[in-house]
Amino acid sequence: MRKSIFTFLILFSCILVKGEDGYKLWLGYQKLNEPVLLKQYNQAISGIVAKAQSATLKIAEDELRLALEIMLQKKIPGLNIPSNNAILLGTPESSNEIKKLLLSGDLKLGNEGFIIKNHKINNINTIIIAANKDIGVLYGVFAFIQLIQTHQPISNLSIISIPKIKNRVLNHWDNLNRSVERGYAGISIWNWHTLPGYIDQRYIDYARANASIGINGTVLTNVNANSQVLTPAYLIKVKALADVFRPYGIKVYLTAKFSAPIEIGGLKTADPLNNDVIRWWKNKCREIYSIIPDFGGFLVKANSEGQPGPQGYGKTHADGANMFADALQPFGGIVMWRAFVYDVRVQKEEEHFTEGSVGAHTQTIASNDRFKRAYNEFKPLDGQFKKNVLVQVKNGPIDFQPREPFSPLFGAMPKTPLMMEFQITQEYLGQSTTLAYLAPMFKECLDSDTYSNGKGSTVAKVIDGTLDEHTISGIAGVANIGNDRNWTGHLFGQANWYAFGRLAWNYDLPAEAIADEWIRRTFNNNNDFINPVKKIMLASREAVVNYMTPLGLNHIMATSHHYGPGPWVSNAGRADWNPVYYHKADSVGIGFNRTENGSNALAQYAPEVQQQWGNINACDYKYLLWFHHVPWNQKINTGRTLWDELCYRYNSGVDTVRWMQHTWNALDKQVDRERHQHVKMLLGIQEQEAIWWRNSCLLYFQTFSQMPFPPGFEKPDKDLSYYQSLKFPFAPGIGGNL
Ligand code: GCU
Repeated sequence: MRKSIFTFLILFSCILVKGEDGYKLWLGYQKLNEPVLLKQYNQAISGIVAKAQSATLKIAEDELRLALEIMLQKKIPGLNIPSNNAILLGTPESSNEIKKLLLSGDLKLGNEGFIIKNHKINNINTIIIAANKDIGVLYGVFAFIQLIQTHQPISNLSIISIPKIKNRVLNHWDNLNRSVERGYAGISIWNWHTLPGYIDQRYIDYARANASIGINGTVLTNVNANSQVLTPAYLIKVKALADVFRPYGIKVYLTAKFSAPIEIGGLKTADPLNNDVIRWWKNKCREIYSIIPDFGGFLVKANSEGQPGPQGYGKTHADGANMFADALQPFGGIVMWRAFVYDVRVQKEEEHFTEGSVGAHTQTIASNDRFKRAYNEFKPLDGQFKKNVLVQVKNGPIDFQPREPFSPLFGAMPKTPLMMEFQITQEYLGQSTTLAYLAPMFKECLDSDTYSNGKGSTVAKVIDGTLDEHTISGIAGVANIGNDRNWTGHLFGQANWYAFGRLAWNYDLPAEAIADEWIRRTFNNNNDFINPVKKIMLASREAVVNYMTPLGLNHIMATSHHYGPGPWVSNAGRADWNPVYYHKADSVGIGFNRTENGSNALAQYAPEVQQQWGNINACDYKYLLWFHHVPWNQKINTGRTLWDELCYRYNSGVDTVRWMQHTWNALDKQVDRERHQHVKMLLGIQEQEAIWWRNSCLLYFQTFSQMPFPPGFEKPDKDLSYYQSLKFPFAPGIGGNL
């Protein structure tokens, strides 16, 4: 008797404590508890007809069955012919009914689009999930699952969905030793040591998750590349991953180290116009495609932050990219050539170039603005790249800051397909102790008007190729994925992976709608939970901007690991690695003058954009210090003096985090304890970090402004020297130091 009570207590406490650890992401299906809805779904769904011949269609059928059986709590039989309320899956090739349906309309579904439709076949009610190609069916299945997960009606469906951007790619900055550059969720999920023999279930679940949001490519390795990955020993490991991902529609790409012909090929040069080098890369590509026939291509970081590149041989980025393009072209591969460049060598040339054209004082500023570097190097090359090259541009001109204006390259290279590079991992946004929902940040950039082709020439339209009629298009997200049980360190980091995929498919989706979906799919459909959580998510990125880098401040994080504030740092190896370079605080004011009488970086934008940001009195406060050096006591267009506004913003960032904390803490009954505790503890850390940011930055800037904190301001409890003394030698995310 005693024993059974004991067993009961243990079991009971397990039930109470056991929650979700986040591993299942947004695919952790739950039994549907609303009787009315359950009845409707049950009536509408009797079984699945899928003449699954390919691996992809088989997966589509299995995924659908898995999800429905858990959510509807019944067996979902496989049917041979459409009977009443069957779900019919397939392509024109696998099903005659689908052939008829797809031929009957001008649907333009392409290779990845799908249709979900209630459809009568000989007076029998069916739901059709159809596409031209198998992968479209899988995408359609996940979209249908989403409908059920989010409790949507399914009696009047007529959904047609086609991705707006062709290459939707994750960039893993993962090293071969499993450290992850700017990774905050453990080590790399690629276990190179046990590949190819050991296929971790994670690889499969990774592919499922990506397919469920339409991601169709993955670059496995760090942009700071290691040429070893191109050796036969590694290529068979890459093949093993490619084999897992293929049926999920995901192509594998690698980063190519420019100097690989020297490092692993025994050549004396990597000159892109040298015949031996050209031959070496051609042979390497032939070898790769003989192992991985659908290999996607290369991502290349060249002449940037110490990475070798064509300029080392007096050649251009176009020469380098085109060499790869030629080697990949016979096999259908693409080159994603990064425009993240700000090399010192080029800086010298630029100095030379600007000499004499501007006055002595402005000349130094003009030649020293990192903001302008990518544009200056790449714009002149517009039209010189081969057809299978995409130039991959970071969203902003500097480096993934909490808020950046869009990169002036967008709209400036109409003859070149530009690929967007977002950072999903939160290198500069508090890393994995910070809840920051990034869809609003991604949208802010995608929706920005470049005016390159008149009003409405948004960044999104530049990258989807429609504006300049390109046949290829792409968008990349630097992944926030690691081997932490919940994949992303912070549970809410999952929402950023999710949002990236959803926006890559359809950038018109509102950030709020994506948050809504994600919460319902990840947690539950309870409005008392969804509404406050959505509010938290939607406020979160702006809170981070406010307590870290308000009013257009940027790059004032501690150097190297970028964890925490370091606006005072002035001793880094290069001028433009120092926060003081970016904020330029002095006794007069703060901010980087990028107008005509400053670095004139603004001139890289269309006249309409220059107008929008060029006038110190009219410039949106969000971008003010990006473009202007503003006197401390100047009244800005928010109605306060700059100094007071700065204090107000820093404070309101902290306040928002506290509000997020209280809101979340009150939701303990609405979600399992494990996930509630996880987020609660992280919010506690975030509050401390927000205070740390606010206090240290304001104390530091006060040494210049010499102005008092406004009345009612929460006084810092430590002095500036305390904050300046903090060191984090083992902060995460520095690759290669495992
Ligand atoms: C940032 C980041 C580096 C990264 C680089 C890049 O500077 O801090 O770790 O290598 O971006 O995008 O190449």
